[in-house]
Amino acid sequence: MAELLRWITGLALRLAAADAGGRSTWLPRRASTTAADVDAAWAVVFWISVFFFFLITFLVVFFAIRYRGQRGIGPREYLKHNTPLEVTWSIIPLGIVIYLFYMGFTGYLNLVTPPENTYEVQVTAQKWNWLFTYPNGHINAELHVPVNQPVRLVMSSEDVLHSFYVPDFRVKQDVVPGRYTTLWFEATETGEMDIFCTEYCGTKHSNMLSKVVVHAPGEFESWLEEASDIFKDRPLWQVGELLYNQRGCKQCHSLDGSRGTGPSFKNLWGTQHALQDGSQVTVDENYVRESILMPQAKLTAGYEPVMPTYQGRLKDKEITAIIEYLKTLNPT
Ligand code: CUA
Repeated sequence: MAELLRWITGLALRLAAADAGGRSTWLPRRASTTAADVDAAWAVVFWISVFFFFLITFLVVFFAIRYRGQRGIGPREYLKHNTPLEVTWSIIPLGIVIYLFYMGFTGYLNLVTPPENTYEVQVTAQKWNWLFTYPNGHINAELHVPVNQPVRLVMSSEDVLHSFYVPDFRVKQDVVPGRYTTLWFEATETGEMDIFCTEYCGTKHSNMLSKVVVHAPGEFESWLEEASDIFKDRPLWQVGELLYNQRGCKQCHSLDGSRGTGPSFKNLWGTQHALQDGSQVTVDENYVRESILMPQAKLTAGYEPVMPTYQGRLKDKEITAIIEYLKTLNPT
């Protein structure tokens, strides 16, 4: 029986995937250990639906013609009961439903049960970016992982519901404020894969993107070591630029003067800023620092109070670096 089930699953998978490389004709590439099972479940449901769609359409048309009303012939005698037929159309769908449940449930158990020795990364979702915290404390806006290593994500949200989705891995999980949700995967290919937010979370929901970078064996450790020491061999303003890209500033503050969720950083330094209470403030070191740690303290006129606080998430040294970077954005 188990053999038969495996055979059906294998067949469905072959129908879903055209070539031997594990690539699928109409689904994204499969880059995780669990992706094939997910595709198989999808393919089984799909081909069963296709089969019954054509069977039922054919029968409806066939019966409509075969048993149409004819002139001169009264109502026909019709069948009132047929036990073998009724048993057949109950047993077959029951078998199909049990098989779908078996596939779905074993697949689900596999997806919620991480193997041992997982590498753990903390994920923070906030409007509108992802932050990944590595075991050594390094925070990055991209998820970097080693290939062929089970990775477990422990995720939480700072504000509203978000959902973490990597199509190439076939994994997706809601990220909820005030509690942790988890997800695991094991990447089988190196390269870059897209991360999407798949829960509507506000005006920039569609921009809440990031990527997974899967490293070849041995490369991950050196990447983490280098990325962790951002102050090494770099002028302060470049550290600021790095933080601007890594910590989610860029989601709301443009560099080209265009209006985002927050004011553009271009030509911002040293200007007089109109606040919502009608007063003016000069964009200097202390104003920028306060705006990073207490964004709601002095709100710029015309903008929504949506910026999250970076208290505890940016060190003083890092705030200084961002200030230095801001200074470079005024053309001289
Ligand atoms: Cu976060 Cu949609």
